[in-house]
Amino acid sequence: MISLKSYKKEIEKVFQKQNIDAEEVNILFCEVLDLSLTKLVFKTEITAKEKLKIDVAVKKRLMGIPIQKIFKRAYFYGYTFFVNNNVLCPRPETELLVEEVLNCIKSAKNSKNNAKNTQKTAKKLKILDLCTGSGCIAIATKKNCDEEIFASDISSKALLVARKNAKDLDVKIKFIQSNLFQNIKSKFDIIVSNPPYIKSSDIQNLDVEVKNYDPILALDGGDDGLDFYKKIASQSKNYLNKNGFVILEIDQGQANDVQNLFGKNGFDCTIKKDYNNIERIVVCKLK
Ligand SMILES: C[S@@+](CC[C@H](N)C(=O)[O-])C[C@H]1O[C@@H](n2cnc3c(N)ncnc32)[C@H](O)[C@@H]1O
Repeated sequence: MISLKSYKKEIEKVFQKQNIDAEEVNILFCEVLDLSLTKLVFKTEITAKEKLKIDVAVKKRLMGIPIQKIFKRAYFYGYTFFVNNNVLCPRPETELLVEEVLNCIKSAKNSKNNAKNTQKTAKKLKILDLCTGSGCIAIATKKNCDEEIFASDISSKALLVARKNAKDLDVKIKFIQSNLFQNIKSKFDIIVSNPPYIKSSDIQNLDVEVKNYDPILALDGGDDGLDFYKKIASQSKNYLNKNGFVILEIDQGQANDVQNLFGKNGFDCTIKKDYNNIERIVVCKLK
């Protein structure tokens, strides 16, 4: 048997040298040993076989492979998602997008009920997650509401992952392969999207973990990073019901541009910040 504490210290030093967050050591050990963080604290020794497995994972991490891609799972909004190199690893800040969708569902339901001023309507809202990738936004939303959820992506490989996640997490979602709105045939109450938004020229400067292991299709937002917002701003009103919402994740510094694009296309926009005080979400309401 090998002392877990001293081996962990060894790995922490190696990670520190490579500027990898020390917290990742705990995550890596938990993943390999299939333990929660609390249980890891109480484990004192590991077997030679377990050490070998940890060594393999450490080697991969030092090569720049993100933890989520090593173990093929990512945690998002309290759920575990399968991920591979065909999808973007869900990011913590994207959870705010799900929060906003759930807020807009409440507000849309209230305004529909007030308009009718009768019994509460049981009609489900229709929500589209455009550029769904792993399906994280659509699936986390469906887990927390009873509305009708659609999710689309141009990539058939990403859709395979999203379908697997919906099955594993036991939710019903209608998946559509589509280049933005090309194959979208109905109207929605809410369109949510975390589209590719990195400037093409910035991609080579991204961390190895992102540029080598997230698909380029999930990153490249064109010359100014705004290609997708321009298209969504000009086309989305054709796919929205009255008083519909478009809820978008944006990159740092894009808020004003995105607000202007949607403003010109008949939307009122509100900008929301993330946990790091960075403008991260634009909520656009059709006027
Ligand atoms: C930034 S990722 C977001 C993935 C996921 N929604 C998330 O938040 O983790 C963008 C996604 O857009 C998809 N995509 C790229 N170009 C597209 C297009 N023209 N039409 C639809 N989806 C597209 C990519 O395949 C990728 O899955």
